Amino acid sequence: MTKAISNRGKEQPASPMRRLEAPYLKMKDIRSHIYPLNIGQPDIETPPSYMDVYRNFPGPTIKYGPSGGLPEYRKILSDYYAGCGISLTPDEILVTTGGSEAIIFVFAAITDPGDEVIVPEPFYANYNGFANMVGSRIIPVTSRAETGYALPPISEVELKISPRTRAIMICNPGNPTGYAYTKEEISALKALCLKHDIFLVSDEVYREFVYDGKHHSILSEPGFEEHGIIVDSLSKRFSLCGARLGQVASHNKDVIDAILKMGQARLCPPTVEQYAAMEVHKLGQDYFDGIRKEYQKRRDTVYDGLMKIDGVFCKKPRGAFYIQAKLPVADTIEFAHWLLTEFELENETVLVAPGNGFYATKDIGLDEIRIAYIIESGQLARAMHILGEGLRAYPGRK
Ligand SMILES: Cc1ncc(COP(=O)(O)O)c(C=O)c1O
Repeated sequence: MTKAISNRGKEQPASPMRRLEAPYLKMKDIRSHIYPLNIGQPDIETPPSYMDVYRNFPGPTIKYGPSGGLPEYRKILSDYYAGCGISLTPDEILVTTGGSEAIIFVFAAITDPGDEVIVPEPFYANYNGFANMVGSRIIPVTSRAETGYALPPISEVELKISPRTRAIMICNPGNPTGYAYTKEEISALKALCLKHDIFLVSDEVYREFVYDGKHHSILSEPGFEEHGIIVDSLSKRFSLCGARLGQVASHNKDVIDAILKMGQARLCPPTVEQYAAMEVHKLGQDYFDGIRKEYQKRRDTVYDGLMKIDGVFCKKPRGAFYIQAKLPVADTIEFAHWLLTEFELENETVLVAPGNGFYATKDIGLDEIRIAYIIESGQLARAMHILGEGLRAYPGRK
């Protein structure tokens, strides 16, 4: 007999993006093709300069590196931020094992068990899992499809602040919403955080993917020295999901010192990957311009495809590579399962993520799905056609 596991272990939520993994694996062998739009794994090639370093890394030993990251890599990251209009010294940046570890470290550094982090929902569902791991609580403030998931009125956000609130966290541009916060929204959030002496944590892993207008980082302007924390990742920026590299950046020395000690406990982020990442940071704006153009084309294809389907609602998102859309069905968990396992068009179908899993409030977003536009436009157009035909044929359609 084993001892019972912790409540935390029992309560750890499963990922909504992977909810349909088991039926997908079964259907994969039955259908001629299933368009995978459920997970943010881009099909974009990892830059060859990264692969070169990786393949030719000189042995004989891959050693531990410094817990906060290689100093020369942190300098390169500081230069990268300067190029984005964000002034950070290498000491204000810590390299982490992916953006995921960066978020866990930030939650652990700024909350005690029972403390609260306010997050506009729908949000990247793994925030729930990260909070559960360290015993903090996510307090949602609901944004609406009708506004394109803009920040709810600041008075609604303020109403959520309690004596246990330690931070507001945003994802900018957002996963799953694609919403890119305006300069005014960032300023309003900053003012609120300063007023209540709480942190503003900004997940900016999709910073380069803003298609109309500009990205506004929380640290791009002065006046937010103590209260701002950026979490970041190379996974999407350079199509390096499996490399597991990310970073935390803040002017707040106490935050950086606490996270560095956490970093010491797990020894170091991946060594070879940091050397390879130094190469991809030489790619510069041309690289991002090309990638941005490609994703913009994909976004337009998906949006145009969705607009042709009767009863579908969404606003055109400005950023990231996701669209959260409302469908004319009562429960997209059932619909997505049916689409995957029972519907086919010429033996093809589509896999989407049910939207409810991106909300912390129970029973909302049940009529929404998230689409990740991580395959090329021709395939996306076909996938949207199949989705439309699926909706027409769905017995549970409203
Ligand atoms: C908004 C957001 N934050 C963080 C992460 C985690 O990224 P990483 O692969 O660096 O752990 C993801 C991954 O999909 C994400 O979408």
